[in-house]
Amino acid sequence: MSKLVGQILGNRWTKVVLFTACLVPILLLAPRLWTLATTGYSPGLTANPIEYITHYTGDWTIRFLLITLSVTPLRKIFNQPKLVRYRRMLGLFAFFYVCLHFLTWFVLDKFFSLPEMWADVIKRRYITVGMLGFAMLLPLAVTSTAGWVRRLGFAKWQRLHRLIYFAALAGVIHYYWLVKSDVRLPLMYFAILAVLMLYRLATRKSTPQRAAVRAATTPNTASLPD
Ligand code: HEM
Repeated sequence: MSKLVGQILGNRWTKVVLFTACLVPILLLAPRLWTLATTGYSPGLTANPIEYITHYTGDWTIRFLLITLSVTPLRKIFNQPKLVRYRRMLGLFAFFYVCLHFLTWFVLDKFFSLPEMWADVIKRRYITVGMLGFAMLLPLAVTSTAGWVRRLGFAKWQRLHRLIYFAALAGVIHYYWLVKSDVRLPLMYFAILAVLMLYRLATRKSTPQRAAVRAATTPNTASLPD
């Protein structure tokens, strides 16, 4: 069974299927946006389309961040090294959805106004921390290529990519601070993040072991930070 899963994960068509699956949220949203743009009203986007799109893209950002962070624990628990082939793509999808999320706010809510945007960043703490999460994801997306792993050196690159944990934490705090009453969902995301982090801490290798693993894998991009 484990061998079959390994074979499926190693197949290049699996990557195509997963890529398509990651596009589903935006493909589901696109026709509704088209209806809104052409008719001025789309029932699928509710009476407040900007709020709906902001929430929709925010939800998918946090989900993709947590899915990306689940790859290493799942790889270790099920002994499936090939799972790592999907991590970069999942992380880039998190970035794709956070860009849509940010642009919805900046374009449709703030109408490209930098002063208005800045006013919101300093006035609302959930926007401040959301921006912080976004800012942390930017260098990760830029340096996600094999070329950047070589340029920075694996150790430095790995250290930089640990920012994803803080970006996810910023995303969860952002969500917790923006909800008015029912905090169950942000708390659930926080619990998932905490479990993923505790798993990492519990399975952290000693420094010599990590150095050996690094030496064996550098400069392969398949070995992203744990
Ligand atoms: C790591 C980065 C981020 C994550 C994970 C994230 C996630 C989320 C989530 C989960 C929601 C709530 C969705 C719901 O209620 O169903 C949300 C709402 C929102 N986010 Fe973000 N977000 C991030 C960054 C940002 C940034 C950079 C901005 C803009 C500067 C932003 C602006 C907003 C706004 C305006 C809302 C709606 C607030 C409201 O309804 O009162 N977010 N975000």
